[in-house]
Amino acid sequence: MPGNNQTIISQFLLLGLPIAPEYEHLFYALFLAMYLTTVLGNLIIIILIILDSHLHTPMYLFLSNLSFSDLCFSSVTMPKLLQNMQSQDTSIPYAGCLTQVYFFLFFAALENFLLVAMAYDRYVAICFPLHYASIMSPKLCVSLVLLIWVLTTLYAMLHTLLLTRLSFCENNVIPHFFCDLSALLKLACSDIHINELVILIIGGLVVLLPFLLIIVSYARIISSILKVPSTRGIHKLFSTCGSHLSVVSLFYGTIIGIYLGPSANNSTLKDIVMSMMYTVVTPMLNPFIYSLRNRDIKGALKKVFQKKSLL
Ligand SMILES: *[C@@H]1O[C@H](CO)[C@@H](O)[C@H](O)[C@H]1NC(C)=O
Repeated sequence: MPGNNQTIISQFLLLGLPIAPEYEHLFYALFLAMYLTTVLGNLIIIILIILDSHLHTPMYLFLSNLSFSDLCFSSVTMPKLLQNMQSQDTSIPYAGCLTQVYFFLFFAALENFLLVAMAYDRYVAICFPLHYASIMSPKLCVSLVLLIWVLTTLYAMLHTLLLTRLSFCENNVIPHFFCDLSALLKLACSDIHINELVILIIGGLVVLLPFLLIIVSYARIISSILKVPSTRGIHKLFSTCGSHLSVVSLFYGTIIGIYLGPSANNSTLKDIVMSMMYTVVTPMLNPFIYSLRNRDIKGALKKVFQKKSLL
């Protein structure tokens, strides 16, 4: 609106989920259960991996990093959503909003990069089984994780700092259940071209590059297995990569679904449903995908329970 004075906005209002009042309680219970499952499931995976020294291999250390990332990722948005569903006041301070943007981007990118590290780990395990221990040394794993943390920090920092440059006008209602970067950009009344450009370029790098790297490692894994075609080879593929492949499909399936899925008339609604998928559903399912199909994790779980019954 022309003539609109730029006011300093000290807080935003989160509109939350478009749920009819009669279903509020049902959805509250559902989301609470999902969030608690996410926290519990991922905590169990982390604790099992710490406790069981058989699981101190690169694959499981990366997995516990992934669980940590899942746990934090859904904690960025879910507690606030649950709180807002119960209260009349759904405001979030400006600084709180920026913090949410920062950690949301941070853990989303962390998850993405960890999936690449895990794909590389599987690639080395299958294509160079004899050199696996010397290639995936503890030193390399720690350096990889450190590098990933540095990259994700820079990525989240860049977007958040660019966001602080913007000024916001009177409209401070975010039609979402958390401070989503693109929803915030729509509210800004200064020029957002730089922000959009950076999102396009860096966002493309952070999503597409890991995806391509994962595809390349799997292409190599499959071609190395096809060299000696046998049911044993295919069995080996699924037993060593099955869990990772499922998690990758779930993660990228959701992202691809966002872009290629049926375009609803109501794009805000579609955004919200998709955000729900990757902030709540994916982090909740990851620990189950790993533990249900995985003999090592099941073994570790059994050991813990046997120790308990001995006490
Ligand atoms: C993450 O991975 C690194 C390197 O493998 C490992 O040292 C660290 O304990 C892991 N952190 C968590 C929280 O699992």
